[in-house]
Amino acid sequence: MIDKSFHIITFGCQMNANDSRWLALSLEDRGFVRAEAADAQVVVINTCSVREKPEQKVASALDGVRRVTRGDPRVLVAVAGCVAQQMGGKLFSPGGQVRLLIGSDGLVRAPGAIEQLLAEPELRLSLLDFTDSYEERGQVRGAPVPVARVTIMQGCDNFCAYCIVPFTRGRQKSRAAASVLEECRARLKEGAREICLLGQNVNAYGLDRHGDGSTFAGLLACVAALPGLARLRYVTPHPKDMGLEDVSAFGDLAPLCPRLHLPLQSGSDTVLKRMGRKYDSRDFLNLVERLRKTRPDMALGTDIIVGFPGESEKDFGDTLNMVHACEFVSSFSFCYSDRPGTRAALFPDKVDPAVSRERLARLQSLQDALTRRLLEKRVGQKTEILIEGRSRRQEAGKTSWQGRDPYGVPVHLVLSGNTEDYTGKMVPVIITQSKKYTLMAQQAGGLCAEQSNFEKAGPLRKDLPANPCAGKAKKNFTPGA
Ligand code: SAH
Ligand code: SF4
Ligand code: F3S
Repeated sequence: MIDKSFHIITFGCQMNANDSRWLALSLEDRGFVRAEAADAQVVVINTCSVREKPEQKVASALDGVRRVTRGDPRVLVAVAGCVAQQMGGKLFSPGGQVRLLIGSDGLVRAPGAIEQLLAEPELRLSLLDFTDSYEERGQVRGAPVPVARVTIMQGCDNFCAYCIVPFTRGRQKSRAAASVLEECRARLKEGAREICLLGQNVNAYGLDRHGDGSTFAGLLACVAALPGLARLRYVTPHPKDMGLEDVSAFGDLAPLCPRLHLPLQSGSDTVLKRMGRKYDSRDFLNLVERLRKTRPDMALGTDIIVGFPGESEKDFGDTLNMVHACEFVSSFSFCYSDRPGTRAALFPDKVDPAVSRERLARLQSLQDALTRRLLEKRVGQKTEILIEGRSRRQEAGKTSWQGRDPYGVPVHLVLSGNTEDYTGKMVPVIITQSKKYTLMAQQAGGLCAEQSNFEKAGPLRKDLPANPCAGKAKKNFTPGA
């Protein structure tokens, strides 16, 4: 075991990945070093409980840690994230290695708690309380990354019938716009070219009582104007909270990429109503049409749940029809699973799991065919790739790189020179080939001009209003909302 060393295992969404990054960097700030699980003094398991037997996943991760550390009682194990919040003290077992539970709002106190627990081996701590407002975590400095993810809010107020998130992440809390902008500026100065704003319900930013008068569209415009920024994205918006100004941002803000992940969940109006999504298929289609009018090349992705309680074959057919009509370039699709405490868990008319699985397979093969067709159409097009790193698969004598195009599609290309690091560079390319989920490309011209005046990324201009991200009250696009 290496003294003052740590290892973090992360499950779940991008917000969890971002939380793990913050925890790792703040532990490094306190003099800890990274290590393999077998050698680490502190092991953190950052968990997800959104679906599919999360409790078992955590139990098997804990078994794995016990095995590689041979149950060494000096090893401090912490469980963080949604399963910690959901299961609470049940995770402390007699003789177990778990001595720390970290909820989403408790993360800010985790580095201090870890130091305290290492000093007091008999102690156990539980950081599961929800705080009343978004608590700043303090800036941490990391190695430059091409794509910086910046959290703008925590929690969710929607209580969709199937979803555990409002219980595990608490009520929606918007972060102050000034702090979001400060973090964005810092990450751009480090070398990021793209910013992705994160939240469970990003486009409801500012609508909770913790807001500081900023609106989502106002915040987007402020971030889009930051020097050094080449690309801007956000995830995940709720269709019912797409305001007219959020749609027009795709026409107005040059760095805002023409790609949106817009969770549909179901194409059936009956199911959407029972899910409590507060829009119907017509609202969703209108929104898609409006987005495509604003950005004709808009690429849409989505999330879909099949086998929601009471879903009939006809309801499922409506979902297939919507997937066709919306021409999603990709989708994440899941079989419905009961989550404790949610309304849907109490619905009586559960769908046979075999039927759900068969529907999921049909949906996924439709999506695969759509994706293939949409990607094939891209062959021959010119575009720009932001290089995120070396490809996993390399051909002999050549260096293959991977990145994304503005539409969020992973693209692989070979670049000359084995030694130069192209990570973070913007490369003009021509698409040469489409694969199942990815594209291949060839460089077409010199690297794009670095418009990265990082040093110029100073404080906000003085002539801006007191809160430059403030905006008018939101007019939602979907009438049902
Ligand atoms: N606000 C986030 C929700 C995160 S959960 C968002 O809209 O993306 C991510 C996805 O998991 C959801 O969109 C939904 O499709 C899926 N999901 C959530 N609860 C589920 C459940 N009980 N069973 C199956 N899939 C679920
Ligand atoms: Fe998982 Fe959702 Fe929690 Fe993220 S917010 S960790 S996806 S349950
Ligand atoms: Fe879940 Fe619906 Fe909120 S999916 S996170 S309750 S928007």
